[in-house]
Amino acid sequence: MDITPLQTDFDRDLAGARTEADLRALRDKYLSRRNGLIPAFLKTVASAPADVRPALGRAANELKNRVERAIEDRLAAAAKTPRVDAIDVTLPGREPLVGHRHPLTLLREHIEAFFQRIGFLIVEGPELEDDYHNFEALNMPAEHPARDMQDTLYLASPVRSAVGVPATLLRTHTSGMQVRYMERFQPPVRLIAPGRVYRRDNLDLTHTPMFTQVEGLVVDEGITLADLKGTLVAFAHEMFGAERKTRFRPSFFPYTEPSAELDISCAACGGTGCGMCKGTGWIEVLGSGMVHPAVFEAVGYDPERYTGFAFGVGIERMALLKWGVEDIRLFYENDLRFLEQFPL
Ligand code: DAH
Repeated sequence: MDITPLQTDFDRDLAGARTEADLRALRDKYLSRRNGLIPAFLKTVASAPADVRPALGRAANELKNRVERAIEDRLAAAAKTPRVDAIDVTLPGREPLVGHRHPLTLLREHIEAFFQRIGFLIVEGPELEDDYHNFEALNMPAEHPARDMQDTLYLASPVRSAVGVPATLLRTHTSGMQVRYMERFQPPVRLIAPGRVYRRDNLDLTHTPMFTQVEGLVVDEGITLADLKGTLVAFAHEMFGAERKTRFRPSFFPYTEPSAELDISCAACGGTGCGMCKGTGWIEVLGSGMVHPAVFEAVGYDPERYTGFAFGVGIERMALLKWGVEDIRLFYENDLRFLEQFPL
């Protein structure tokens, strides 16, 4: 029996140890009571011939002490040396990135806050819709040419929508929410219905196949065009600034009569006419009108007793106008350099 190989092995191992973890592993390898090399050697000493036993035992104990000390020394030295990955407390801190909501969400919340302030309810409904609510009940029967105004995405086969009705299409506008609400609740009605809508449009500067609208509906006895105008002018001023001029331009929607589009004066040219407003000095903001009696009849409201107004506005379109963004697709590409510019 010879202890020399153990000694040389240890010296070589110690020289190769780089980290504190290496040193601790080394301590285990040589000293662990369970399977360390030196305790194992000591056990065999017990069965060595009596004449060599004392010398072997002494040598093994010396090696054990040396290993202990050597490892302790190296560990103590390591504790004093600065580590390369240590934190440099003299460096300035890194500013944590604070996120924020998407600009379209911010704008939607702004719109919602305005209407909530003036007493409107916020309601939501299914994006998977049926023909009846999206078209039929809105005075657009099967062969009505108005259905061509919107290029509809139909489902291959009917599915159940979130509200459990068989749906055959993706809603092309939020106007169906007028019907859904009036079917279930009696007047007075004062609501907005924000949500996603879908159309078979190809992507370009001003179109995405999915976008967001806010529908509005007010119904009661004695609601007039003056209520429509007052509400929507206040809304336009809230969104675009009180200095913008507004005008109502006659239009057509099957579910309103009369119908009007609301324009605001062009901010780029101040109303004299430029590329932004196609030379007209005006920019179209939303569609609106007095609820058509046929819609009231479809939901079981008495058109002799109740009148109301409705409107629909595209949030993306508003965002483009409000912030002077020229490409709607930027809102959907999730480039933080773009999104970060809208702390509303
Ligand atoms: N549904 C129309 C659209 O998608 C917007 C609209 C116009 C909604 C007039 C209305 C309205 O409620 O009265 O373009």
